[in-house]
Amino acid sequence: MRTPIIVGNWKMNKTVGEAVNLVSELKSLIADVSGVEVAVAPPFTALVAVGREIGGSNIQLSAQDVFWEKEGAFTGAISVSMLKDTGCRFVILGHSERRQVFGETDASVGKKIRAVLAEGLQPIVCVGESLEQRESGKAFSVVETQIRGCLKGLSPTEMEAITIAYEPVWAIGTGRTATPLQAEEMHQKIRNVLKEVFSQDTAINVRIQYGGSVNAENIRDLMEQSDIDGALVGGASLKAVSFSRIVKFSQK
Ligand code: PGA
Repeated sequence: MRTPIIVGNWKMNKTVGEAVNLVSELKSLIADVSGVEVAVAPPFTALVAVGREIGGSNIQLSAQDVFWEKEGAFTGAISVSMLKDTGCRFVILGHSERRQVFGETDASVGKKIRAVLAEGLQPIVCVGESLEQRESGKAFSVVETQIRGCLKGLSPTEMEAITIAYEPVWAIGTGRTATPLQAEEMHQKIRNVLKEVFSQDTAINVRIQYGGSVNAENIRDLMEQSDIDGALVGGASLKAVSFSRIVKFSQK
């Protein structure tokens, strides 16, 4: 059985002090929750402090991005071993904001995935179509291309360390969620692609999160779908109470 996983993507929000306050409140709100993995992804500057605050709790640490090189003259970049040093277990890769604003491609995401796996951390790989692509009937082919482009050449064991986040771009930060059926349909297609590229077992074992305007009101219906294994949450993860409710409603 796949354990649900809820990750809070804080994006470019929270100073160190604000981040510690948020996670400290969250820690007590979800202290008794089990059966669901929880992680928060603060900005790089707050990783160390948040990591300290969640020590010994049921909350894990994620980064929002990384660079694939090990070290050297790469001004502004952060390596996987630097993230590991802060206590990170997960790294979000290929978020649509990284793709759109920073020119991330399936090829660069692929290099990052390999670098993260090589250090024993777990990538959360984001895929998803734009509104225009959905309206022109290309959603499935776009997502399939992203999946194949980022993940080709990995072993089944490597693939099983990865979580996929299906995030339709038109649903991110817009208040417009995919319906549970739209999300489930895409999650099934993603599983079919994983079966073709890897194996039936791999397709069954990989966790696929939904992301895009997830909140405490819509999470239950999403989690009722058999192929939705959790959520990547942006806006609603910035308040401890709303995020804690999402976590609690995700226990299957
Ligand atoms: P949102 O963001 O929940 O604010 O729509 C989700 C994401 O970008 O991961």
